[in-house]
Amino acid sequence: MNGRSLLVTCGLPYTNGPCHLGHLRTYVPADFFVRYMRRKGNNVTFICGSDNHGTPVVVSAEKEGVTPRELCERFHTHFYETFRRMNVVFDHFGMTDNPVNHHRTRSLVQTLIDKGYVYPEIVKQCYCTKCQRFLPDRYVEGTCPHCGAIARGDECDQGCGKHLEPGEIKNPTCTVCGTKSEFRDQEHFFFKLSEFKDFLKDYLPKLKGTQNARNYSLGWVNDSLHDWCITRTLDWGVKFPGRSDLVVYVWVDAPIGYIAFTEEWAKENGKDWQDLWCRENGEVIHFIGGDIVYHHCIFWPALLKGAGYNLPDAVVASGMLKVDDHKFSKSRGYVVWTNEDYLDSGLSSDYLRYYLLAYTSHTKELNFSWSAFQERINNELVNILGNFTYRTLSIANSKFGGIPEGEVSEEILAKIRETISIVDSAMNEYDFKFTVDSIMGLAAFGNNYIQTNEPWKLIKKDKNEASLVILNCLQLVKALTILIEPLIPDLAQGLWEQMGCEDTVSDSHIPETGIQLKAGGLKNPTILFHKIDDEMVQKLSDTLSERVKIADKKSLKEELVNIDDFHRLDIKIGKILSAEAVPKSTKLLKLMVDIGEEVRQIVSGISQFYSTDDLVGKHVVVLVNLAPAKIFGIESRGMILAAGDEASLLIPLRDVENGTKIR
Ligand code: 2FM
Ligand code: ZN
Repeated sequence: MNGRSLLVTCGLPYTNGPCHLGHLRTYVPADFFVRYMRRKGNNVTFICGSDNHGTPVVVSAEKEGVTPRELCERFHTHFYETFRRMNVVFDHFGMTDNPVNHHRTRSLVQTLIDKGYVYPEIVKQCYCTKCQRFLPDRYVEGTCPHCGAIARGDECDQGCGKHLEPGEIKNPTCTVCGTKSEFRDQEHFFFKLSEFKDFLKDYLPKLKGTQNARNYSLGWVNDSLHDWCITRTLDWGVKFPGRSDLVVYVWVDAPIGYIAFTEEWAKENGKDWQDLWCRENGEVIHFIGGDIVYHHCIFWPALLKGAGYNLPDAVVASGMLKVDDHKFSKSRGYVVWTNEDYLDSGLSSDYLRYYLLAYTSHTKELNFSWSAFQERINNELVNILGNFTYRTLSIANSKFGGIPEGEVSEEILAKIRETISIVDSAMNEYDFKFTVDSIMGLAAFGNNYIQTNEPWKLIKKDKNEASLVILNCLQLVKALTILIEPLIPDLAQGLWEQMGCEDTVSDSHIPETGIQLKAGGLKNPTILFHKIDDEMVQKLSDTLSERVKIADKKSLKEELVNIDDFHRLDIKIGKILSAEAVPKSTKLLKLMVDIGEEVRQIVSGISQFYSTDDLVGKHVVVLVNLAPAKIFGIESRGMILAAGDEASLLIPLRDVENGTKIR
C-alpha cells in the first residue's frame, strides 16, 4: 500500500522517576494514532527515548548517591519495559546521552554558531556561596517574576507555567542546602530566538495537530520573544562546542534526540534518516504533554529552521491531568503509578488505554478517579462491546456451528462504511475521543440490532432469517475488531482468534472491515471482557488516599526553617509596666512593655486568664518585629508569647535585662 510516510514521536520522559498516569496521557494516544495510521496502510515510524540530561536527573542522582548515567540506565529500562506492558510499542527507544545524540546536538549547535545565531553574553547567574557553585535550573527555587508563585529556576511549574531564563527568578535559594543564593556574573551563550519571530508567525498558523498547541504558541509569539540562554554550568550533558565548562541546556539536546533516534533506527533498518529530517519525504508529528508546548512550538521549530532541518508538521498536545479533583502531584501523593498501582494489580493495559482515550477529549483536563474508571469500563467496554461480541460469537458457535453461509445486508455494510468515514476524519483531526465514541457507537448499534432481532428466538421460526442476522452481527464484530485494535490491542487479538483467524489483527487494514466473512468455523468463545469489581476499586482508592495522607504528614515534617529564618524574628525579653482592660472587650488587655530601648504598647488577648495585678512587673517574651496592627482601635506593636489554649506566658528562668534577645 502506498500511504503517507509518517514519523511520530512522543515527548521524552526524564530518567529520574517511574512512569505514571501523566506520562501515559501522551504515550497511549500516540500509540493509538500510530496503530490506526498503520491499519490505514500508511508507513509509520514511531520513535521515542529517554531524556537523560539536565538538572532533573543530576539532582535526583545526587540525592540517591549514584552517577547520573546509572540512574538514567535504570529508568531507561524501566520506561522501555513499562511502555511495552502498556502495549505502547516504539520502533526505537533511544537515550539522549548516547553518542549519536551527543554528535547530532553538537553538529546542530555548531551550525547555528556558524550561521551567526548564537552569541556570548555575560549574565547574572544564581550562585550558592555555601555549595560554592552556580545553580542552574532545578538547583534553584524562588518566586516567579511573572505571577509570584513558587517557581523552579527555569520554569514556573506551579503558577503561570512560563519558561524562566537564568537570572529571572526572584528570591532564589539553593535547593540543596536552602541557602539564599546570590547573583554572580558568568559568560553564557544565547540563541537568537527573537530573530525567528516573523518565521514563527508564518509557520504556526500552518502547524497541524491540536488547536491548544497552535493557539498558545501564537499568543506567545505575538507577545514578546526573548533570546534564549542555551548553556548551563554543569558537568552532565552535551558539551557546548569549544567550552569544556559548559553543557547545552537540556531543552536543546532533548528534542534533537528525536533526530538522533531516527538516525539510530535508520541505521538498524537500512533507511535514510535524512528523508525525514532533511528532504521532506515524510511528515513529522510530535505528541507531547500540554506543559511543553512552548518548547515544541517555539524553541524547537526555531532551532530546526536556524540549522536548516525540516520542521514538524504537527504537534499534538494532551490536556492536564488531575487525580481525585487535585492537580496531579507526585510530592502531594496525587499520582497513579503505572506498574505499582495499576499493572501489578493484574489490571489489563487495555482498560487503562480505553479509559485514557474515551474519558474526555485529548486536549481537555482529565480528572482521574478509580470510581469513574470502573464505571466507564464496566458500563461501556464490558456492557456494550464485550456483551455484543460475546453474544454474537457464542450464538453463532452454538446455534449455527460457526459463520453461516450468506450475504451480509447492505444496511450493515453501509453502517460500517459510515463509521469508518467518521472515524477517519476524526483521526485526521486528532479527535481521539470522537473516534472512540464512534467505534463504540457501532458496538451499541450491534447490541441494539441483536437485541431487536433476537436470533436465538428467530431460529425457531425461520432459520435462514436468523442465520442472516447472526452473519450481520459477525460482520459487525469483524469490523469492530479491526477498528478497536489501535485502542485495545490485546482484546482485539483475543476476539480475532475467536473469529477463527490465525494471523494477527494488527496485520489487517481498515478496508478489510467491509470484506464479507467467509463461512467457516469459530473458536469456542470465552468471555474476554470482565467487569472491575468493587473490591478492586476500593483497594486502589485506599492506596491513593493512604499515599496522600503520608505525603501530608511528610510535608508537615519537612516544613523546616533554617537558622536565617529564625533570625528574622526579633524576640526579646520585656517587662510589663502597666496593664489595663480594653473597654468593651472581654478578652483584651492593653499592656505597656519595656523592651530595653523603648516601651511598647501591645494589645494581648489574655484577660480571661490574668488579672492586671498578676501581670504588672512580670518579665515576658515579646515578638518585637511583628507588623503593627490596630485592635479595637488601639495600636498594638508586638506580641506577648504564650503557650496553649489558656495562654501560659513564657517567662525567663533567670532574671535577664529588659531587651535581652532570644537566640
Ligand atoms: O518535560 C519533560 O518531561 C521532558 N523530558 C520532555 C522532553 S521532550 C523532547 F523535547 F525531548
Ligand atoms: Zn547551596
